[in-house]
Amino acid sequence: MQTLDSQTFKTRDATSYDAVTEQFDFFTERLTSPLATHLVSLAEIKPSDSVLDVGTGTGVVALLAAKKIAEGGKVHGIDLSEGMLVTATAKAEKLGLEEKIKFSQMDAENLEFEAETFDAVVSLFALLHFPNPLTALKEIYRVMRPGCRFVVAVGSRPPLFSASGLSHLVKIFPDLVRRKQGRQLVAPGFLDSLVEQHLPKAEEQEESDLASHSHNRTSDVSELIRSAGFKVLQTDWQSHQAQLATPEDFWEIQRTFSSISRKRLSNAAPEKVESLRREFFGQCHMVQSRGGNLVYPFAAFYVVAEKY
Ligand SMILES: C[S@@+](CC[C@H](N)C(=O)[O-])C[C@H]1O[C@@H](n2cnc3c(N)ncnc32)[C@H](O)[C@@H]1O
Repeated sequence: MQTLDSQTFKTRDATSYDAVTEQFDFFTERLTSPLATHLVSLAEIKPSDSVLDVGTGTGVVALLAAKKIAEGGKVHGIDLSEGMLVTATAKAEKLGLEEKIKFSQMDAENLEFEAETFDAVVSLFALLHFPNPLTALKEIYRVMRPGCRFVVAVGSRPPLFSASGLSHLVKIFPDLVRRKQGRQLVAPGFLDSLVEQHLPKAEEQEESDLASHSHNRTSDVSELIRSAGFKVLQTDWQSHQAQLATPEDFWEIQRTFSSISRKRLSNAAPEKVESLRREFFGQCHMVQSRGGNLVYPFAAFYVVAEKY
């Protein structure tokens, strides 16, 4: 993407969260917490560390990291979305962590820190949003001290031909049968496919190249991290599945977390959204009346890397 395009992309991507910050935080706290906890444990944060959380959102990872910090340590969460940062700051105050944590509006591709400022950098579900991920990774490398850890996680299918991929397939086999029988709807593909059918594609790019390239990003992401200069120490993949009790929650979670649905629905005419909603709810009720369920599977591919 060219510089001007990527600036516009970044602004639109960040502002697309501003209207759904509350819902984002609600579902993130409910679903993402185990993934965030694992990410922070992989970072091996020490009490005196200076930690950076890139694309912090409502601060789920930064707040967990702040609990590991004692005097002398500090966590800095950065994000481009003002709405996300307002919520993150309010949460830090509520938890009494405001002395240990700071949130700033900043572009991951242009970090406003001196070289070698941080002892650890963490980032959850943000890298795929950056139009120039290699630029962001090189920035992260620059602001880290040598020998320190960078732990990043992105949404992805399991690594191809891996043990985790195989055991995942065995685990989800009953779900695959339920889907075939019309007794399970799966997010975010369900809403995305209705959006694809009913709402015109936006003229501008809706997802970064890295996100739209493939659903299995494991090799691309590891390769990018190496290209930025890091040594990859370890990779890991974890998956979870949430069952949504009501079609209302099923709608909210998808229109919040899916970049395509969030962006297209917020720009669509109200009557178009209404007719799409009717179809969505109709199908949900039909599946539930057959004893079926509404599920949101989510997974993270983790890379633990070190600055030489
Ligand atoms: C899916 S959210 C993840 C938030 C949080 N890490 C979490 O797991 O809950 C992606 C975040 O990346 C932020 N973001 C997107 N592009 C960015 C950029 N260029 N610089 C900094 N943050 C960015 C978005 O505003 C959003 O808050």
